[in-house]
Amino acid sequence: MIEAKNINFAYRRGIPVLTDINCTIGNGGFVALLGHNGSGKTTLTRLFMALDHPRSGQILVDGEDIVHYEPADLADKIGYVFQNPDLQLLADTVYEEVAYGPRVKKLPEENIRANVEEALRVMGLTKLKDRYPRLLSFGQKRRLGVAAALALNPRTLILDEITNGQDAAEQAAMMEYLKALNEEKGTTIILITHDMDIVRRYAKRTIVLCDGRIVFEGTPAALFGSGEDLKEWGLRRPVVSTLSLEFGVPDVAGCAEFCDELAGPLAAAAPEGGAAL
Ligand SMILES: Nc1ncnc2c1ncn2[C@@H]1O[C@H](COP(=O)(O)OP(=O)(O)OP(=O)(O)O)[C@@H](O)[C@H]1O
Ligand SMILES: [Mg+2]
Repeated sequence: MIEAKNINFAYRRGIPVLTDINCTIGNGGFVALLGHNGSGKTTLTRLFMALDHPRSGQILVDGEDIVHYEPADLADKIGYVFQNPDLQLLADTVYEEVAYGPRVKKLPEENIRANVEEALRVMGLTKLKDRYPRLLSFGQKRRLGVAAALALNPRTLILDEITNGQDAAEQAAMMEYLKALNEEKGTTIILITHDMDIVRRYAKRTIVLCDGRIVFEGTPAALFGSGEDLKEWGLRRPVVSTLSLEFGVPDVAGCAEFCDELAGPLAAAAPEGGAAL
């Protein structure tokens, strides 16, 4: 569990980046952290990982104040995938990149091999295992970052814009895998994204930051189903949610369900004797 209590943070004196942040991310949560560019999403997760420390307030991880922690102290608990994949590349091959964390942890070699091969497989990187990481495409580097985090089996994963650079199939495979990890193993997922369709499909909860403050906390359905002007927060309402609002039918998971929901009101509104659909 990660708790932020009355957090204030600034990189430079006099320019607040995070103000009065209070939130709790419980075990097994799937939370989307949202907000316009520069709203403070990456900064907040850097505090969760002890990459930076708040100027005031507390971050608790599993009840422990992490004020004196370094990132390595949390490596067992939290896997972090950076927004910029180049910042995370350390090794000469894709395989060694994924094996890096387990080796630092001094896992037995057969466990390392099993973890690495599984992580490469689920991220679709097995065929690239001997490649030089820096020469991968942007999307492949994103998947490599996720694979490296997965190889350590963390209880919590913080994923900063990982679906960027993926095609639709790669994106769906990645998200379905994370969903299964969350549902079956109870891994907590904190996902930073600008893709609202992913949010409505996969997140259980959203936290919206605007200018360094939390302006909304709730389910995706509550976020997209409210009449709130999401543009002010730098968010785009998914098309299906817009249609739901327009036609006054409950928010639904996909277009097929949406059409079913719509069929009732449309049939009722159809002129006598006319076929509505
Ligand atoms: N290392 C840094 N030094 C100084 N200011 C920084 C630094 N990193 C970020 N900032 C500033 O802090 C604010 C919050 O940035 P942050 O990267 O957390 O936003 P974000 O919500 O992740 O944005 P994006 O969606 O563009 O990734 C911005 O005003 C940014 O310019
Ligand atoms: Mg960011």
